[in-house]
Amino acid sequence: MSEQRCRLPGWRNKLMSAAQAAELIDDGMIVGMSGFTRAGEAKAVPLALAERAHSTPLSITLMTGASLGNDIDAKLTEAGVLARRMPFQVDTTLRRAINRGEVMFIDQHLSETVELLRNKQLGNLDIAVIEACAITEEGGIVPTASVGNSASFAILAERVIIELNLNSPMALEGLHDIYIPQMRPKRTPIPITAPNSRIGLPYIPIDPAKIAAIVLTDGYDSPSNCKPADPDTQRIADHLIEFFVSEVAQGRLSNSLLPLQAGIGTMANAVMEGLLSAPFEGLTMYSEVLQDSTFALLDSGKMSFASGSSITLTEECGARVWANLDAYRDRLVLRPQELSNHPGVVRRLGVIAVNTALEIDIYGNVNSTHVCGTRMMNGIGGSGDFARNGQLSIFITKALAKDGDISSLVPFASHVDHCEHDVDIIVTEHGLADLRGLAPRERAPLLIDNCADPLYRDALRDYFERACARGGQTPHCLEQALAWHQALERDGSMRVFSSAGRKPDSIDKN
Ligand code: COA
Repeated sequence: MSEQRCRLPGWRNKLMSAAQAAELIDDGMIVGMSGFTRAGEAKAVPLALAERAHSTPLSITLMTGASLGNDIDAKLTEAGVLARRMPFQVDTTLRRAINRGEVMFIDQHLSETVELLRNKQLGNLDIAVIEACAITEEGGIVPTASVGNSASFAILAERVIIELNLNSPMALEGLHDIYIPQMRPKRTPIPITAPNSRIGLPYIPIDPAKIAAIVLTDGYDSPSNCKPADPDTQRIADHLIEFFVSEVAQGRLSNSLLPLQAGIGTMANAVMEGLLSAPFEGLTMYSEVLQDSTFALLDSGKMSFASGSSITLTEECGARVWANLDAYRDRLVLRPQELSNHPGVVRRLGVIAVNTALEIDIYGNVNSTHVCGTRMMNGIGGSGDFARNGQLSIFITKALAKDGDISSLVPFASHVDHCEHDVDIIVTEHGLADLRGLAPRERAPLLIDNCADPLYRDALRDYFERACARGGQTPHCLEQALAWHQALERDGSMRVFSSAGRKPDSIDKN
């Protein structure tokens, strides 16, 4: 079995236990590990490293593709291993450490990390730890369920540790398309002209002399924790589909739309599932994470091809897909995240980008990352890569959070990840606001009337009217702009602004 997976002559000489391989990582090193949205992360070496750090403290800079599964970020945080972490995470323990200021978190556009690394703007990568499903005769690494940043990490690192996962499906071999952009100033155009373009190799080419250790593993990726659609996410999907139908009727989109990108999480997955009952055919995806909805659409025949950087599935969907991977082989490709999210390619293909917002202000500025402008949730991920460059940039959110204590529509976004210039369409369960071609003073009433929860509409209209009376291209009452967030910090709720609550005197005066 392992001979079939590892075809590099003499590979057994490099075999080590995870604990031995973890000894190769020293205090202060910059380490790149595989893993993207809980898929394809190195599983044994990081845990051995955490174990070792409990007795011999050490800290590193850790770069990955995106989030890790198997509680790896939590265990590394608890062991004090993470001095710096980039470019994305979704772990509660790590999030708390970031927000306490104990871990320096660099929240990056996912397409950018290896570009910065390649240009020596992030220091030298000492070591890469990459999960593989196979190693070729020449030492090429065949990744598992994600490519993420693994290719450039392995190519740029001084040494490479490979975790050969004996339980990863062999059918993964051939699914990946590894292409590395040339160094500037001699870079040529990236020749992806359609989601199904294949432009590279099915493995990561590295000098086998750099392979410092091969560790045999048998762990599984953590299943996706996406929740099923609920009535609100269903309504969001319905509004969006109605919009697509009308775009097709007006000749702005064809019946196969344009390549779709869907963000992480419950809401984006539910919206994509809504396409199952929509009248479109021949759909494609040019996205980063392929979730359950992608496979439901492929199975239904509604989708003909999906390009991504990782596959993250629930247990139920995973059981079906991983056992039948061959059936999807000619309809799937996994790319490095700098290509799945490449701004130039996203612009060329005219991607329809659907991402989730934490909060949106009345002019269409979107906060995806910071609660009350200060506390990190997950990170910007790939949302900026797609939102800035797609043909249609759509943000979805439920109009309320925390049982109505929070309005997702606020007078002023407490942090801006996607500015008004990058946002075309906003959808909540109440409706859709098409902001294209509108000035800020035209956007606000539309957003409030179509998207805000009725509980908070009057207060938003009131703020907007008072702001307009003061003038400006984008009117604001600056001293009140963050009052809703102040109330949330102070009272744990914005309800003082709801129609059920009471407006403070200070607000009536302005
Ligand atoms: N203020 C505070 N908390 C808020 C909030 C707000 N305005 N809006 C939502 N939340 C909370 C929810 O209550 C929920 O909390 P819980 O986990 O304690 O239940 C949490 O945020 C997640 O919201 P949920 O409604 O479950 O949506 P989701 O799972 O789809 O995640 C984001 C939403 C914004 C956090 C998530 O999509 C994200 O991290 N986005 C940024 C990265 C990105 O867009 N990547 C896309 C390319 S992969």
